[in-house]
Amino acid sequence: MVLAMGIPGKRSVEEASYLLKRLYLVERETMRTLGGYLVNVADWNLKTQLPRHIWQDAQRADALRTRILELRYPKRDVDQEHDEDLLAVLNLLIRCKGDAELLEGIYFVVKRALAHAYSIYLETADLLDDAPTVSLIRRFIPEIKEQIHDAVELKAQLETRQRRDAGHAQTTDEGEWRYFLMDSLRRIGGVLGSNKDRVKSPGAASNVSIEADPLLAVRPPYEPPLVPVRDPRFAEARYHYPIRPVSKFIERQVYAAINHVNEIWAAEIPALVMWRWNDMPWDFYLDCARWAYDESRHCLMGVRRLQAWGFEIGIDYPVIADHYLAVSGQGELAVLALLHAFEVNGPYWKSQMKTEFENQGDTSSSQDFDYDWADESIHLAYGHKWVLHRLKGDMDALEDLKEQVMDDWNKWVAQARAVWDYEPFLSRIDARIAAIEGEPNGSRHG
Ligand SMILES: [Fe+2]
Ligand SMILES: [Fe+2]
Repeated sequence: MVLAMGIPGKRSVEEASYLLKRLYLVERETMRTLGGYLVNVADWNLKTQLPRHIWQDAQRADALRTRILELRYPKRDVDQEHDEDLLAVLNLLIRCKGDAELLEGIYFVVKRALAHAYSIYLETADLLDDAPTVSLIRRFIPEIKEQIHDAVELKAQLETRQRRDAGHAQTTDEGEWRYFLMDSLRRIGGVLGSNKDRVKSPGAASNVSIEADPLLAVRPPYEPPLVPVRDPRFAEARYHYPIRPVSKFIERQVYAAINHVNEIWAAEIPALVMWRWNDMPWDFYLDCARWAYDESRHCLMGVRRLQAWGFEIGIDYPVIADHYLAVSGQGELAVLALLHAFEVNGPYWKSQMKTEFENQGDTSSSQDFDYDWADESIHLAYGHKWVLHRLKGDMDALEDLKEQVMDDWNKWVAQARAVWDYEPFLSRIDARIAAIEGEPNGSRHG
């Protein structure tokens, strides 16, 4: 009998979910690596741009995870029993030495391989049977290519600065790191794995010894700094906000913007816990990615305002993670709880700022605070949910912790204010404000 089959089948549901689970793991772990390293990133442009990528990565990972569950999962849990070899290679990425190597590993090795793997998936997919996946991946590829393009530009900026400022020249060989990672990825069959792996039972013991490589002997496991790294171009500061009576509206505008810029610490902590806590429910990673992205946007709102008034970042006004470092010695949960404690009053405070600036005719600042306020209402729920989760649902413990870290912060900043008078920033800010006021349209500036 002749079998009238027509076009042969291309890929089973089982094989599709196997491949998508690998792609999901790569998206999730590159996102977590960027999150964990953010606090250690020195370059200001890089630090403020990465949270946007982290959020995009979270969206793609979430869509993949949902799709995998549609493909007759959860017969195996999508968040467990990942390929150990692939996980081992992805775990190497955070052992980079500095910003340039971070970009090399994440973007020029893994994301390039990921974009290629998505293309292969599309080329060999049945466009009708697997149409929901095809639709997702067609949107993913241009987004990842755009991220890689951003990384190329950020790397070029780093190199230009290094050439200009020989004192901060990179001492490591980035090429060596890149080739080591490329080789490690190749040895495990790449992002999609080799055909042999596809029949290997999930979670099977690793047979590739990456840890033994001598290159790793000089790269100890990553330990995040307790004091978030700031751009070496920035002048030294102890705290970000002075105590001084505000007599003029322009001072109010300027200091509100300085406050916004310094919210980068509020991006660093949700990003860090994404990496530090590796056994949380998936929603946690999704929420933290959005949280970190929002705070980087709030920071950039301030940067944009101050730039328009002619202030040079880190030179004319301070950028320092004072809140973060005041309690980071107590661990990540304390820093996250401090952020949450501040955010409890966030929506009320930000909505008042919106009205105040609107009434004065500053539509630029009022618009910033209007959107900020919308974001803060979401963060309030995130903070409550996840700090409470870490405290095993103990509401009393949550209240005690919030109170204790706020108390610690108040003591810390009082001490810092006693030993530093906010100079030279105070004089520079006053001089800049005087110059703005002297301009023909000074009061309408910005
Ligand atoms: Fe914020
Ligand atoms: Fe917030």
